[in-house]
Amino acid sequence: MLERVAEIQTQAKAEISAASSSAALEELRVKYLGRKAELPQLLRDVAGLPPQQRGEAGRSANEARQTLEALIEAAAARFEAAEMAAALSEDDVDITLPGSPVEAVGHHHLLSATRREIEDVFCGLGYSVVEGPEVETVQYNFDSLNHDPAHPARARSDTFYIEGGGEGPDQTLLRTHTSPMQIRIMEETPPPIALIVPGRVFRRDSDATHTPQFHQIEGLLVDEGVTLADLKGTLLAFARAIFGADRELRLRPHFFPFTEPSVEVDVSCFMCDQGTAPGGERCSLCKGTGWLEVLGSGMVDPNVFAAVSEHGYDPDTHQGFAFGLGIERIAMLKHGVPDLRFFYENDLRFLRQFG
Ligand code: DAH
Repeated sequence: MLERVAEIQTQAKAEISAASSSAALEELRVKYLGRKAELPQLLRDVAGLPPQQRGEAGRSANEARQTLEALIEAAAARFEAAEMAAALSEDDVDITLPGSPVEAVGHHHLLSATRREIEDVFCGLGYSVVEGPEVETVQYNFDSLNHDPAHPARARSDTFYIEGGGEGPDQTLLRTHTSPMQIRIMEETPPPIALIVPGRVFRRDSDATHTPQFHQIEGLLVDEGVTLADLKGTLLAFARAIFGADRELRLRPHFFPFTEPSVEVDVSCFMCDQGTAPGGERCSLCKGTGWLEVLGSGMVDPNVFAAVSEHGYDPDTHQGFAFGLGIERIAMLKHGVPDLRFFYENDLRFLRQFG
């Protein structure tokens, strides 16, 4: 038996060192170490040998098996590394790389793109961007912003109040505008400040130009010596960045509870010449007026500063301006979107036009 073990070992060693692939090695493993192979059979036969032969025969067969196992394993590891390297260099399709040409996986929704475009303009003017809660209290949404208790926006038919959401000034509601952040910001940050607040707002409204939820950007700048001219210059820079370098602004007197004076701001129409479209007919975007209403604005009402006077805002020393614009409105005007509801239907035929 000892000779046979030695023979097997010599033959197997020669074949293992001559093997040229991991598949060939696997065949050798089965041939020499598999269940039906001779060497394991010899090992099993050791039990039937006379006791004085068992020790040596068992040891040598066992050693031969371990030697062959180790040789096969070492050779297999070498082949595996070499075969992997060869496969990688031959295979020029790497499914983890982006396609060529690179296919975009998607793009921002027109409302996100518009919000970011507006944020960029104001960041360029030195403003910071902050966000605030969508569930507000009556105090922040109305009272501190100088809304008369009888203001129509406070009516149950106009505002989503939260059931069981407190009483009086602490009652909670879905904010109807981003303006409550004016108060929250001033409570937290002493003047001077220059911020914009993008966010979702909610009203009980639903038709082609109103949805129960839409998006606004609030702006607030407070310092000393701020005038309406600063407001106009800032909004002109905004209008020109968004609608084109030739735009002009028109301020119309208006009323908002938290600004005094208050204005509505129109931008000169970018589709026509003072109301007349290139073909000579009435411009359909501005309805022939030559102006597009884009936002509400005004100088911060001293009563609003009074609501935050403990936080360093003094109605006698500080002035500021505020503005509020609808992101949907800006996007509709700029891109000619005829119906607000397109923004929320997520029809790819609509969305893909703005990639
Ligand atoms: N909060 C107003 C609204 O939703 C918009 C607005 C108007 C905001 C004038 C302002 C402002 O900051 O000064 O209708």
